[in-house]
Amino acid sequence: MAPTAARDGFRWHRAVEAGSLSSGRGRAAQLDGRWIAVVQDGDEYFATDDACPHQGAPLSEGIVLHGLVICPWHSWAFDVRSGRCARAPHVGIATYAARRRGEWIEVELPDGPSAADGVPNESSARP
Ligand code: FES
Repeated sequence: MAPTAARDGFRWHRAVEAGSLSSGRGRAAQLDGRWIAVVQDGDEYFATDDACPHQGAPLSEGIVLHGLVICPWHSWAFDVRSGRCARAPHVGIATYAARRRGEWIEVELPDGPSAADGVPNESSARP
């Protein structure tokens, strides 16, 4: 079960309407100046950085299957929980807690600089 209160240094943000999602699909949301992909896999919701670390495709326009969000441009797949790339484990994306509250999907983001800072993001990497 998703936590009800934000952790210290984090805050929940309304991201997308739950009715705008379906299993296997996502939507982008701009929260605190960051583009976040909010995706649904079965009955679960996840949030990751929206920009693919390969060449910047919007992961929110990819498909979600078996716990992976698959990039719409070149099919790199990222674990929605860990953010690790299935083909290049040294590459990853930031992931965030997500929960459904009523008709909204909320995403927990850290206050301050992007959590993506320091996450491997090697655009030159090739599988
Ligand atoms: S831009 Fe995502 S795999 Fe190439």
